[in-house]
Amino acid sequence: MGSRLFQTKSVNDLLSQASENKQGFKRALTVTNLTTLGIGAIIGAGIFVLTGQASAQYAGPAIVISFIISGLACAFAGLCYAEFASMIPISGSAYTYAYATLGEFLAWIIGWDLILEYLFAASTVSVGWSGYVVSFLHDFGINLPTALTAASGTTLVEIPNIGWQELTKNLVMGLAGKGINVATLPHVTAIMNLPAMFIIGLMTLLLIIGIRESANFNNVMVITKVSVIILFIGIGIFFINKANWHPFIPKNNGTWGHFGPSGILRAAGVIFFAYIGFDAVSTAAQEAKNPQRDMPIGIMGSLGISTVLYILVALVLTGIVSYTQLNVADPMAVGVNALGTGMFWLRPIIKLAAIAGLSSVILVMMMGQPRIFHTMANDGLLPPVFAKVHSKFKTPYVSTMMTGFVAIILAGILPISILGELVSIGTLLAFTIVCISIIVLRKKRPDLKRPFRTPFVPTIPILGAIICLAQMAALPLDTWLRLIIWMAIGFCIYFTYGISHSKVRNNHKIEKPT
Ligand code: ALA
Repeated sequence: MGSRLFQTKSVNDLLSQASENKQGFKRALTVTNLTTLGIGAIIGAGIFVLTGQASAQYAGPAIVISFIISGLACAFAGLCYAEFASMIPISGSAYTYAYATLGEFLAWIIGWDLILEYLFAASTVSVGWSGYVVSFLHDFGINLPTALTAASGTTLVEIPNIGWQELTKNLVMGLAGKGINVATLPHVTAIMNLPAMFIIGLMTLLLIIGIRESANFNNVMVITKVSVIILFIGIGIFFINKANWHPFIPKNNGTWGHFGPSGILRAAGVIFFAYIGFDAVSTAAQEAKNPQRDMPIGIMGSLGISTVLYILVALVLTGIVSYTQLNVADPMAVGVNALGTGMFWLRPIIKLAAIAGLSSVILVMMMGQPRIFHTMANDGLLPPVFAKVHSKFKTPYVSTMMTGFVAIILAGILPISILGELVSIGTLLAFTIVCISIIVLRKKRPDLKRPFRTPFVPTIPILGAIICLAQMAALPLDTWLRLIIWMAIGFCIYFTYGISHSKVRNNHKIEKPT
């Protein structure tokens, strides 16, 4: 039993499955689609929300260095993903790679873990989407009922001249410092986050209708967000006040992680979220026209373009406004304010770009999850209903609906902080396993055709795994506990269902090294 838990799936079977494309997906995606898919998943809440907060609290202008560090870790993992995605172009992503190298049990762990990345990321980003939509509509005098715009049970308080904000200890202390007693302000306890639920529902519908329709919608969203980011950089560059960059690395304030070198590292961990998504390209492998050539370009291209944009935004933002003012939900809008009243027209455009940007992240994450479920169900580890493809639309509609249903509930009731940290720990675990798998498969199957090869193996995969593990170690204990509980649920499902239904086990297709 022990050794069969680590039974691997035959790479040759995977390859024939990929070339025959038995599962009925449409091969419709070009290299441009794949790259925009990647950018669609990457540029979102990370740059539009987290950059400002991480810079104000942890790194100051040196957030630019944090972006370089985190980008480097993702580039290492990205190179490993690119090798796998070109070698085994199947829609299961890291789950499939682990099945071919480390065996069924670890593949199940990674498949179950990927739910934390994709499904939970869709919910996380939908909460950010809701915040921007509420603020955008408010600018036009449309106010949604406050109790329907935040996680269930959250207490919101109305601050004069600012509006509704979540009641936190920091807020109470900040208001007390200004002589305002929070108890005297209007309060509301939120019931659910309706806009967040709405956007997930909308994306689910779009994804059921079809991959090409979804890719087209994604292209429009990506063009919008990238153009506005370039506009922000292009205009902002003329307003940089170099004094804002001094000191570039503010002195540590005595606490680990608050400025100085440790602050740069902590900020790198926080803005890691901004890079999540390039791996989503690999989930669409079976819908790519020429996966062997285009997968590596899609993965590394989208990661490279996003990294350059991130570094430029961080430089411009911390150059036009002091980092101390950036601890807000919409730091880029604060940046625009600093350009003077003549530039106020840019504010709604920035918000609109954020809404477009976040929509495309939700879309691509919601597209990745059902494709992983689909592959797992085809392997027998999940019930066959997860593998159903719609006869007309050619999309995995049942798993898309299930993903949408769960994501809607999470988006409606949970706050962004819990969701976001779970996404980070889940993704880091997936990246670590993919890096290790590259080394294992190079040893086990050196003969396999690798249209793209990760350079400097094993140095790059080892460095990738170490950096990911270090970032996991820096996450709070609560997040680790949630990960452990999530994994325990996964083990129960595997040992009560997957193990007895596994097709690979039942077919005894054990990979023999040649
Ligand atoms: N990278 C994605 C974002 O920043 C998840 O929203």
